[in-house]
Amino acid sequence: MNIALGTIPFGTTVGQQDTFAILDRFHEAGGTMLDTANNYPFWVEGRSGDESELAIGAWLAARGNRDEIFISTKAGARPTVPGDTTLDSAEGLSAPAVAKAAEGSLRRLGTDYIDVYWAHIEDRSVPFEETLGAFNELAQQGKVRSIGASNIATWRLERARNVSATRGWLPYTYVQMRHTYLRPRPLAQLPEMGHRLVTDELLDYLAAEPDLTLWAYNTLMFGAYTRPERPIHDVYDHPGTTRRLAVLREVAKELGATPNQVVLAWLMADGIVPIVGVSTMAQLDEAIGAADLKLDTELRARMDSAS
Ligand SMILES: NC(=O)c1ccc[n+]([C@@H]2O[C@H](COP(=O)([O-])OP(=O)(O)OC[C@H]3O[C@@H](n4cnc5c(N)ncnc54)[C@H](OP(=O)(O)O)[C@@H]3O)[C@@H](O)[C@H]2O)c1
Repeated sequence: MNIALGTIPFGTTVGQQDTFAILDRFHEAGGTMLDTANNYPFWVEGRSGDESELAIGAWLAARGNRDEIFISTKAGARPTVPGDTTLDSAEGLSAPAVAKAAEGSLRRLGTDYIDVYWAHIEDRSVPFEETLGAFNELAQQGKVRSIGASNIATWRLERARNVSATRGWLPYTYVQMRHTYLRPRPLAQLPEMGHRLVTDELLDYLAAEPDLTLWAYNTLMFGAYTRPERPIHDVYDHPGTTRRLAVLREVAKELGATPNQVVLAWLMADGIVPIVGVSTMAQLDEAIGAADLKLDTELRARMDSAS
């Protein structure tokens, strides 16, 4: 299944028993990819940011299935001041910060390797040579199998990949950004700290770089496609949204699927890995239902052309 499970609420608002049940069901349905970070959910008062990784680590230990799971975790955005709920004291991406972050994640996850290790945010105070050198060292030590960049400008991603290529280091082969079917207004600001939206330039770059895979987050806009109490965010407030929502509902009806499932299928049809955050079994089942949903060329063209 080409869907990654988001894990922000695991170990906090979703307790251990429900976390285990959700992870069990996801895995039974063929899901392998789990997305976490070394700081989820530090922005919630009273949380350290250890919780999500610890919850996954506990499940992996209880099930003894580490080798069946693809773990994605991230470094760079963990506060260094305990209790800081902003990114002001973020650890950043210096070589010592990356090495320390990796040790912490490996310990909490109870594993000796990470399948894809991400730079969670940009740290422009550190040269790429230093960050990528640190990632490469982790790879040489067998602690990291592949690397990615999240919330990065496309020109910086291209530059980073060049640095790695020139030095023969492990390159970024994953990029993780906020992305969904609705298109944001250009230059619109997001309220969430550190989040960056996919741009047309990034999609163009991805089309030319077959070794690079996009993982998209906030694909379901916190449930706003289907939940009237969750309004669609302002960044999508323009006439194209009305047209996209109309096509989305039409296609969902024709396929006997839900709008959420069509959004996920639309992303997957382009080779994108959608990350889906769930807090209930019903939400998980809906996402799993998208894995088998195929959009033919005509439907995709209709969805793409609504703007
Ligand atoms: N790289 C980054 O900077 C970054 C940033 C953000 C997120 N992420 C990753 O992406 C994952 C998901 O992100 P996200 O939580 O921002 O976005 P999301 O997946 O769009 O939203 C998840 C929330 O949407 C609601 N939801 C999910 N499925 C639903 C359904 N079928 N029907 C109705 N509501 C549904 C649930 O809200 P309730 O729980 O309130 O019911 C759920 O917690 C995270 O867990 C994380 O792994 C990465």
